[in-house]
Amino acid sequence: MEGFDVSLLKDIGRPELFEFEGISMTHYFTDNWENVQNFKARPDDILIATYPKAGTTWVSYMLDLLYFGDTAPERQTSLPIYMRVPFLETAFPVIPAGVELADKLATTPRLIKTHLPVQLVPKSFWEQNCRVVYVARNAKDNVVSYFHFDRMNMGQPEPGDWSTFLQNYMDGQKVFGAWYDHVCGYWEKKKMYSNIHYMFFEDMVEDTGRELDRLCSFLGVSTPSKERQKITNSIHFDAMKQNNMTNYSSLPVMDFKISPFMRKGKVGDWKNHFTVAQNEQFDEHYKERMKNTTLRFRTEV
Ligand code: PPS
Repeated sequence: MEGFDVSLLKDIGRPELFEFEGISMTHYFTDNWENVQNFKARPDDILIATYPKAGTTWVSYMLDLLYFGDTAPERQTSLPIYMRVPFLETAFPVIPAGVELADKLATTPRLIKTHLPVQLVPKSFWEQNCRVVYVARNAKDNVVSYFHFDRMNMGQPEPGDWSTFLQNYMDGQKVFGAWYDHVCGYWEKKKMYSNIHYMFFEDMVEDTGRELDRLCSFLGVSTPSKERQKITNSIHFDAMKQNNMTNYSSLPVMDFKISPFMRKGKVGDWKNHFTVAQNEQFDEHYKERMKNTTLRFRTEV
């Protein structure tokens, strides 16, 4: 795939949030909507679906190493992860749209990233029975990570202060909509569509090797244990933070002086952000929003 000049993204400007197809969005993810919805998936495509900040990059790198770590080692030093795994719905003005990048991918399988909620995923992924790897992260750590991301990413709406951000998150006023609907939507879909592997960020922190094994079983990939150990080492938080191909340091739209992309990578950082009152209010609201699901999260490991 040909490269493009990501430095042009630097001055794209913070967008406004607006309602679109029933969720909150910015135009950077809706400007190419028709092409996104008409995207032609192939049966061997793997869709990596997440609510923002749930562990997308972690699982993307895991999958990339599994499929191409051995066969195309040059990828590891020449292509940032966001080029290897195109972000389908992106429509930034100065670089190729996600659909275009996905169309141009020469790999088999193609690894494709989306943050779209399940009801907005292009229908060809379901028609082609593509494998979907969904990663979910507990709501409290997810909102903390999202807050710091919106502070440092100039392509995201203004975050405001922490308490405003938290309230907006609870109200679903964040790009890609409400966390609650997102995680529950894919959880429900799994009941009808068996080709979804539902993973949890907390499980990956607890035992990355075990989660890699489970992912391999789902994919039907038989990677030798020595190779799996190598992958587990490469995808450790510290290794990915040091690795310029996975730490997003090449994207100038992100201001690492405010906060790095690879920030903490922990379960439980929410305790350093929520006040006692915020936590109580959040728990109450959470109980109500999640009362009809069997989906359970851990907020510590
Ligand atoms: S994005 O922008 O939506 O694609 O972000 P995403 O990759 O989903 O989420 C970023 C958070 O995931 C953490 N991360 C990791 N944690 C532990 N181990 C590894 N290897 C790892 N890779 C990414 C990253 O640090 C962000 O979480 P926070 O809590 O902000 O540190």
